[in-house]
Amino acid sequence: MQNIPHIPVLYREVIETFENIESGIIIDCTMGYGGHSSMILEANPNIKLIAIDQDQTAIDFSTKRLAEFGDRVEIRKGRFSSVIKDILQDVNAADIKGILADIGVSSLQLDQKDRGFSYESENLDMRMDKNAALSAVDVVNEYSLKELEHILLEYGELRNYKKIANEIVQNRPFSSAKELSEKLKQHMPRGKKIHPATLLMQAIRIEVNDELGELNSLLSSIQNAGLVEAKVAIISFHSLEDRIVKKAFSKFSKSCICPSEAFRCECGNNHALGKIITRKPIMAKDDELKENTRSRSAKMRIFQMDLHE
Ligand SMILES: C[S@@+](CC[C@H](N)C(=O)[O-])C[C@H]1O[C@@H](n2cnc3c(N)ncnc32)[C@H](O)[C@@H]1O
Repeated sequence: MQNIPHIPVLYREVIETFENIESGIIIDCTMGYGGHSSMILEANPNIKLIAIDQDQTAIDFSTKRLAEFGDRVEIRKGRFSSVIKDILQDVNAADIKGILADIGVSSLQLDQKDRGFSYESENLDMRMDKNAALSAVDVVNEYSLKELEHILLEYGELRNYKKIANEIVQNRPFSSAKELSEKLKQHMPRGKKIHPATLLMQAIRIEVNDELGELNSLLSSIQNAGLVEAKVAIISFHSLEDRIVKKAFSKFSKSCICPSEAFRCECGNNHALGKIITRKPIMAKDDELKENTRSRSAKMRIFQMDLHE
């Protein structure tokens, strides 16, 4: 994997999920550096892959990396919440055999200091799409105290969110992630494995890229797509995201959709879209944890669509 700026997480498990697919289309909603995409294409020589990313750097890199697969690959730029809707209009739902989303930030986005994702960055940006309207500088310097408290609590799960939000408001404007994390690091939880400002950066990044809104929208499109036999695999890195995926898959699997207060079932009891494959999320094994620290918090859940009857 030399010269590849991002090691794909749970790569063996992703390959196992999408193996022996004879034909049809697989959608990779988060192509990134093409790691999962290329493995899926190699493992399934007769499928076509539609890959999405909103980051032009990732698009440029993977356009070259996936060129060897010729017209078996189609790359679309944009947010997956909206691109997936276009794809569902363009292709037959029955041809879609798999959907993968490995949500969050890539190693290269973190490592390219000018992108502002790292606490060492001289910028305050964090947009996955450099043309997006909202950036970290707007969130940090313009959000109200209450809005900052909300994102620090919900997305950063920071216990002293009120104190940190107040410090931001008192000391702004900030112009770099480095300045922000230096100023606030004394108020952050101390862990052996992560930098004190990591959760703060994560909270701001989730807000800037509307990551939870994107995930909710993707799951809702999948629910309503009329997929016949697709496998859906979602990898998340945050407990909130994992909860969203778990809840959505549980909803997809419900046969009866009558209100809980109903005395008896009147819905026909035939609304299940398929079945949950992973009761518990799949996590990285020891050998992967050793070679890729990003895999530490990765959780993959899989749902098998089955609308044949
Ligand atoms: C964790 S990386 C994926 C890495 C990829 N699986 C690989 O093997 O190289 C996530 C990628 O998804 C993209 N991304 C995240 N959220 C997105 C969204 N809502 N719409 C489109 N792309 C998104 C990011 O720009 C990033 O390149």
